[in-house]
Amino acid sequence: MNILILGGGGREHALAWAVMQNPKCDKLIVAPGNAGIAQIATCASFNIENSAEVITFAESEAIDFVIIGPEAPLAAGVSDDLRAAGFLVFGPSKAAAQLEASKAFTKEICMAANAPTAAYAHFTDAAEAKAYITAQGAPIVVKADGLAAGKGVVVAMALQDALDAVDDMFGGAFGGAGAEVVIEEFMDGEEASFFVLCDGENVLPIGTAQDHKRVGEGDTGPNTGGMGAYSPAPVLTDNIATQALEQIVKPCMAEMARRGSPYQGVLYAGLMIKDGAPRLVEYNARFGDPECQVLMMRLGGQILDLLQASAEARLDKAQVNWADDHAITVVMAANGYPGAYEKGSVIKGLDALADDSHNVTFHAGTAEKSGDIIATGGRVLNVTARGASLVEAHKRAYDMVDTIEWPEGFFRRDIGWRAL
Ligand code: AMP
Ligand code: GLY
Repeated sequence: MNILILGGGGREHALAWAVMQNPKCDKLIVAPGNAGIAQIATCASFNIENSAEVITFAESEAIDFVIIGPEAPLAAGVSDDLRAAGFLVFGPSKAAAQLEASKAFTKEICMAANAPTAAYAHFTDAAEAKAYITAQGAPIVVKADGLAAGKGVVVAMALQDALDAVDDMFGGAFGGAGAEVVIEEFMDGEEASFFVLCDGENVLPIGTAQDHKRVGEGDTGPNTGGMGAYSPAPVLTDNIATQALEQIVKPCMAEMARRGSPYQGVLYAGLMIKDGAPRLVEYNARFGDPECQVLMMRLGGQILDLLQASAEARLDKAQVNWADDHAITVVMAANGYPGAYEKGSVIKGLDALADDSHNVTFHAGTAEKSGDIIATGGRVLNVTARGASLVEAHKRAYDMVDTIEWPEGFFRRDIGWRAL
């Protein structure tokens, strides 16, 4: 099978690493890829958000299966266009990806499906939004409706912060994404992520994870794309996962099918867990990054069969072979991230690292320059390990981190603290 993966972050490196282990994979190309991906697959350069470019490339390379990593090509309708051109695709249609692209849409689906989530109201006028916030009081959550790279959410503990957030969003801080806002009830509890594959009709759970969104140790400081993650998430017990599946995910998937936009691909449900019950925080139409890295570390080569079963609508017959193991990933980011940071610093010590079924360093923002690996992004490396316990995986991951020489980068020492 000739496979094309779209994307170039740590998530796509992990997907490529797992897919490569399946004997069915004859050829693997990743676009745009990165320096780590280039060590295991071919990287190609074209605009992955432009359907015509993707189709032309896929035809020229006789691709049999396209796996879409990030949200942007999904929101641009690349999966629809590839399918229309006859390709087998892993990734939801543009209509189904609305579950990530529009928070108001997701809320509407949850209401129709009777899925537990925060109470909310939806505004296109700043004065009305502010009057509602003042009537509700703090804490309260203000969200830009559209895609804002994970930055369009303000969890306001004080009323004034919520009012300021409305002004920022209507003032254009998030471009078109802020032209509508969703105001939500603040949910207290512990967050965890639940990952399922869907094929339009059937739903197959493939794992749980927790990530650390804040930049600083002790979960402090500004939000980031994620500074580390681990799987499984102990808070997502079998009982809570079953509730999430039966009360939230399956009814929402049925509602999507009923509306004529069946969901096919991975659905990432962000849950808030309190008093033994889950509520939905948000859906994403893709794997989490860095959550994907810990899931792939645990699932390995079988992921290709599972992604294919999702794309071919055969998930009712698919099965996940679970190992009783744990994985953790520590993100190394450029100094300054998530604010301004320098590009181009050299990372040393990578060649000396273990690279096997228990230890892998997935690359995110890296490139190769004159034989050196250099940092080209905010999040740069995902040092990932697996073990019989989280303690064992944690030790392996930090042993690797400590071998990497990169003074221009930083990482959190406390990834996994909640579960350890
Ligand atoms: P989202 O982009 O919707 O996932 O929001 C980003 C983060 O904001 C979530 O991961 C939560 O930590 C927090 N958050 C979002 N909505 C709520 C809510 N209704 N109550 C409490 N925290 C929330
Ligand atoms: N790590 C959070 C996300 O991928 O959205």
